[in-house]
Amino acid sequence: MAHISFDQVQISYPGKSGAFTAVDGFAADIEEGEFVTIVGPSGCGKSSVLMAADGLVPVAGGAIRIQGEPITKPGPDRAMVFQDASLMPWRTVLHNVAFGLELAGVGKADRLATAGTFVELVGLAGREDSYPHELSGGMRQRVGIARALAMDPAVLLMDEPFGALDAQTRELMAGELLRIWDLDRKTVLFVTHGIDEAIFLADRVLVMGQSPSRVIEVMEIDLPRPRDAAVRASEAFGRYRTHLADLLFGSSAETPVAR
Ligand SMILES: Nc1ncnc2c1ncn2[C@@H]1O[C@H](COP(=O)(O)OP(=O)(O)O)[C@@H](O)[C@H]1O
Ligand SMILES: [Mg+2]
Repeated sequence: MAHISFDQVQISYPGKSGAFTAVDGFAADIEEGEFVTIVGPSGCGKSSVLMAADGLVPVAGGAIRIQGEPITKPGPDRAMVFQDASLMPWRTVLHNVAFGLELAGVGKADRLATAGTFVELVGLAGREDSYPHELSGGMRQRVGIARALAMDPAVLLMDEPFGALDAQTRELMAGELLRIWDLDRKTVLFVTHGIDEAIFLADRVLVMGQSPSRVIEVMEIDLPRPRDAAVRASEAFGRYRTHLADLLFGSSAETPVAR
């Protein structure tokens, strides 16, 4: 059974002149341990799909199931990471990471120990007592990722988590994310604007069309793991990039970022 199945998903929002359908007929089966990226034009419904998978937005038609069970609300099996890590400014790094565990009723000593492990995992050892405003954008996203991972979700939902970072930091973070993912290979749904990022991370790329949107193409990314700079520079990577740029922009003249 697929870990997550999107069965002809429709997502609508109320509007002045009736409901506006943002996503229509979105279908995909995500296997356990798969790293799937989602790309598509701005406004095509990528965030909507992720929010619905988290149970924050209802589906107007079809269903999203996790291990066969329809999603109706957020649950401990899923964790979301947003573009803006939305950390609590009055809490230190360690206490931000421990926050979800606190809500889940984990005792203080245990949650701080667990949080410490994940702070270290994302490369922030030594910054436990820093406050968010003392961190760079990349570091804040690391905290957001640590906070999600500390809950040990089966599914990681990531909505352009590196979208606000500079290109170099973004590449670095993609490599870091793969290193962490490789430790226990959670199922990941990762939305991005970046063509290279989508290919570099993924087992499969789901390409969405214009709104009301659905999956218009699924690209299997047959590149070796672990992925590194050599993979990025390979001829095969270049072919995927050209193809994806063609799908998104109808031109492969450049290797743009779909903003
Ligand atoms: N809460 C909302 N209320 C009304 N319309 C929304 C809401 N959220 C998103 N939309 C609309 O749904 C469409 C898809 O949005 P979104 O999922 O954010 O796209 P993406 O993440 O691909 O840019 C857009 O037209 C957007 O304006
Ligand atoms: Mg979005």
